[in-house]
Amino acid sequence: MTDNRLASGVASSAGSNSTSNSGGDISSNISSNISSNATRGTAPLPATLDALRAALGDDAVRIGEQIGEHAMTDWTRHDPTRPAALLLPRSTEEVSRALAICHAAHQPVVPQGGMTGLAGGAIARSTDIALSLERLTGVEEIDAASATLTVRAGTTLQTAQEAAAEAGFELALDLGARGSCQIGGNLATNAGGNRVIQSGTARDQVLGLEVVLANGDVLTSLGKMVKNNTGYDLKHWFIGSEGTLGVITRAVLRLHPPRAARHTALVALDGYAAAVNLLRRLSSRFGNDIGAFEIMWPDFYDFGVKLTGTRSPFADPHPLYALIEHASFDASDDGERFSCALTEALDSAVIRDAVIAQSVADVRALWAIRECTAEFPVRLDAINFDVSLPIGEIGAFVDRCRAALDQQWPGNVSYFFGHIGDSNLHVTVDGHSIPGVDHHAVYAFVYEMLRSLHGSVSAEHGIGLLKREFLPISRSPAELAAMAAIKHALDPHGILNPGKLF
Ligand code: FAD
Ligand code: LAC
Ligand code: ZN
Repeated sequence: MTDNRLASGVASSAGSNSTSNSGGDISSNISSNISSNATRGTAPLPATLDALRAALGDDAVRIGEQIGEHAMTDWTRHDPTRPAALLLPRSTEEVSRALAICHAAHQPVVPQGGMTGLAGGAIARSTDIALSLERLTGVEEIDAASATLTVRAGTTLQTAQEAAAEAGFELALDLGARGSCQIGGNLATNAGGNRVIQSGTARDQVLGLEVVLANGDVLTSLGKMVKNNTGYDLKHWFIGSEGTLGVITRAVLRLHPPRAARHTALVALDGYAAAVNLLRRLSSRFGNDIGAFEIMWPDFYDFGVKLTGTRSPFADPHPLYALIEHASFDASDDGERFSCALTEALDSAVIRDAVIAQSVADVRALWAIRECTAEFPVRLDAINFDVSLPIGEIGAFVDRCRAALDQQWPGNVSYFFGHIGDSNLHVTVDGHSIPGVDHHAVYAFVYEMLRSLHGSVSAEHGIGLLKREFLPISRSPAELAAMAAIKHALDPHGILNPGKLF
């Protein structure tokens, strides 16, 4: 098969896309550890709210109708609930004062970032106090010698990315919610995103962290050193802890040299084995100059094309599509080597067809197809899965999962896509296509399929509220006991985000 667009020279740099327990019955041990006090779920005492107003000022403590819809649910749109109060601290000291008061009162507190989470982790109950980081914004420092950026937790990811770019660096973390999600939320969820294949997850970008503990103590470890072996590396307990161990207030993030030339290709493939073949070919040739390797099955691709009003660059439908980014440090890299690699893959029938973006507009159009997930909550009754499996097993899992869903719920409409270079598959089942379906039944059905494969029920979105009952599928009793012990040690009254993760 030949492809003229590839053969006729695909040269130009197209720009960037952006944009304790010791055993026994584990579940009862965990719940007795964590639910003893604050999970009782009673409304805050008036004295607690008075103390918060005295400590933060009246304008930083909102109640009732003063609390907007933004604080009621996250991107899942699950069970919108108005919290009993919303705190808007302006500084680490104010977060500290607020938590000390809530700790003394055994009052549950739910940290809220940009509310773009996909696991229900930031949804408060009507008796909880939500603590928003939205006033804790700003990049405090860029240290060019250390290649670090010190940032307050409420800063959006995009603002931090732009500040890094202005200083001649690159912040490697990137995901579709970049304009709304916050650095604190990214770290609390250990977000993944589009560039993990190149630079790792949010965790890998962190050198230092400041966290306010449940009792109000401030743990400041804002070191810029790459090496620091002075006992436990405490920051890693908080990264990915989903607001259950402390409130992240500031971070020191690593910066990278900018990838000066980016080339984006959309590739049509015969199937999953070909995708893995291509991934390995490109990785062995370009190493981590491969900046993204995103796979879309046709259901997802067709949805994205239609939604974005993009004309598919391929005349015929294909069994699988890959959105691939080659990102080079060398500004003079014209993409010729990347183009040649794809031409060779075409000639040896590893791929069926390919186009390489020729302009920034082309790049944006291709990424818009992949990032149509932003519209899922609006267009679908989205039942989201974010699982991980060994890369080699994902294709067979998709086939099995689709067949099982079709047998169980004939007529279901489901979308398969993911960051396959990072062993991460997303599946979204549209509940509208299965009238009256109980979301929980779909969750249980799909997660159960992962058990025998030793897969993970969350690759990057976290456990939050929606997956907590499925956590034991991916974590052993001993692991769960260790997590519960850490939780109990750091938050003995269980006030931080109760009912999440555990
Ligand atoms: P929130 O939703 O506000 O909170 C998430 C969790 O973190 C909650 O448990 C909350 O209690 C806790 N939390 C928030 N801030 C703090 C803090 N300062 N201290 C302690 N705890 C805190 N995720 C990915 O990993 N990869 C993707 O590719 C990706 N793509 C997305 C695309 C779209 C269109 C959307 C809408 C979401 C996507 N997400 C993705 C999910 C989401 O954007 C991430 O989980 C993000 O990291 C959440 O950040 P947030 O500030 O919105 O956090
Ligand atoms: C994405 C979100 C769903 O990858 O994680 O688009
Ligand atoms: Zn994702």
